Amino acid sequence: MGKIILTGDRPTGRLHVGHYVGSLRRRVELQNSGEYDKTFIMIADAQALTDNIENPEKVRQNIVEVALDYLSCGLDPAKSTLFIQSQIPELCELTFYYMDLVTVARLQRNPTVKSEIQMRNFEASIPVGFFTYPISQAADITAFKATTVPVGEDQLPMIEQTREIVRKFNSVYSEVLVEPEVLLPENQACMRLPGIDGKAKMSKSLGNCIYLSDTADEVKKKIMSMYTDPTHIQVSDPGHIEGNTVFTYLDAFCRPEHFERYLPDYACLDELKAHYQRGGLGDVKVKRFLNSVLEETLEPIRARRKEFEKDIPEVYQILKKGSEAAREVAAQTLSEVKDAMKINYFSDAELIRAQAEKYSRSE
Ligand code: TRP
Repeated sequence: MGKIILTGDRPTGRLHVGHYVGSLRRRVELQNSGEYDKTFIMIADAQALTDNIENPEKVRQNIVEVALDYLSCGLDPAKSTLFIQSQIPELCELTFYYMDLVTVARLQRNPTVKSEIQMRNFEASIPVGFFTYPISQAADITAFKATTVPVGEDQLPMIEQTREIVRKFNSVYSEVLVEPEVLLPENQACMRLPGIDGKAKMSKSLGNCIYLSDTADEVKKKIMSMYTDPTHIQVSDPGHIEGNTVFTYLDAFCRPEHFERYLPDYACLDELKAHYQRGGLGDVKVKRFLNSVLEETLEPIRARRKEFEKDIPEVYQILKKGSEAAREVAAQTLSEVKDAMKINYFSDAELIRAQAEKYSRSE
């Protein structure tokens, strides 16, 4: 069995640098590593609708935004299959059968679903589709026999639920489905990149995101306004690293070679941190450094986006081709699933013969 990647994003907005360090950067590396037989990247529009039913146009508009972000980060349609979830009806069919393998109580215990219900004030009126999206996510993953799912920490409960469904299916029917492994971001900063205001997470509604498609000026302004250490008032004051957004971003983005290029007085991030903690290092200097580091990542992404933006019909074409290719794979799995469940009645010659025999005997 080869190694297969599947992951995706809900198209509810443009992607930001949190998505980048949390998953996108890793996906591009994996795609280019040559270690995987196939890479599937899905725009999860159907899942996005589960909690955006008042706003379907937002989902529709953001499909191309997410696709542009994918392409500009280096996801390459020659190496990865980029597709749209709703174009693969086989996923719905799988979801329906998997629903029999999961209890309501188990879904209620899913920590991600729990916190999303709270966040959206859904308590008294949870849409059924939203409540069951972990099952549909299991269909997304297993339809492609994914072995590896690179996602952020918040998706762990989904992968765990998928693994349970796989085990249940394989034990009730037969070994058709593959249990996926999760691949988490490399460090804590990448796992949960805070918003520029230092709040827990980047979120569009809080207006605290740096988008991959922001201009250099916008990025600079956002970095200059970033939350640092409120007790670090004079440059000479000792400063704190913990909870200091600028340093968290450096943890996520900075590499040793950045110091040679932009801040040669320091050899590495630990030295910079030590100076900040001792006192005598101003926020502006650290922010300027972060801006240079981020620009080194964002500038090529921005430039590639500009190129792809020139031919939007081609972007849709890429998604169409990807969706067709993905559909073939999902259809193959669905057919194996239905065989295992023995619900392919019309191609089950043995069943038809046995039933016929039963009735010919009773004549
Ligand atoms: N739940 C993911 C998110 O909110 C999107 C998603 C849907 C996904 N299906 C998936 C991720 C399958 C990984 C695998 O971002």
